[in-house]
Amino acid sequence: MKLIRTESYEEMSRVAANILAAQITLKPNSVLGLATGSSPVGMYKELIKKYEAGDIDFSDISTVNLDEYKGLTRDNDQSYYYFMNDNLFDHVNIDKARTNVPNGMAEDPEAECVRYESLIKELGGVDLQLLGIGRNGHIGFNEPSDSFDKATHLSDLEESTIEANKRFFASIDDVPRQAFSMGIGTIMSAKKIVVVASGADKADAVKKAFTGPVTPQVPGSILQFHPDVTVICDAEAYSKIEE
Ligand code: F6R
Repeated sequence: MKLIRTESYEEMSRVAANILAAQITLKPNSVLGLATGSSPVGMYKELIKKYEAGDIDFSDISTVNLDEYKGLTRDNDQSYYYFMNDNLFDHVNIDKARTNVPNGMAEDPEAECVRYESLIKELGGVDLQLLGIGRNGHIGFNEPSDSFDKATHLSDLEESTIEANKRFFASIDDVPRQAFSMGIGTIMSAKKIVVVASGADKADAVKKAFTGPVTPQVPGSILQFHPDVTVICDAEAYSKIEE
């Protein structure tokens, strides 16, 4: 595992974008596993700049997103489907038919989980998976628990996750209580993993996940067992590692 400390959110975003751009350049038909939330927004902006400068081409890229809230329609501006179009897909030459997000409105959630997991396999697996990390150490919506969830599943969100994500919604009651999420097994199958973490409220999670014991109580800690992980932190998120 490689831990990189950057000075700022902007620098973290540039470093992460450089790694994604290198992946796209070296393998133009890569399958990218993508994340939403505040952490990767700056990185997506940098990727758009690189696309506009003519440095990267998304035309053969496929994407699979980590997760989606259950019960939000695609046109809901808090759905992760909407987020991806808004923050990246609408601004680059990606073929939207090659972009994939779990269907939050699926009538049969179990069937949706099976469909999503098989889709990833049919695509040949994820070449590079981008992750953020929750304050409670979650990756995707794999919340702290007594065991690691292997495959894509419907997850009950922890109170602390609902609290953390309420900033995006009109009120806490509007935050969905469940989400579809790739499992830990799905994430660990990616060939390469890049994690972005910023802000003081991530410092504990970063320290526990990347320097503490591997335990399902800190889901991100499993990444210590992956052969190719790069964690990029800003100074605040990295601060407890230096203690
Ligand atoms: C998002 C996701 C989550 C976030 C995490 C951090 O697709 O899977 O695990 O990465 O909750 O969120 P932010 O970046 O908003 O702090």
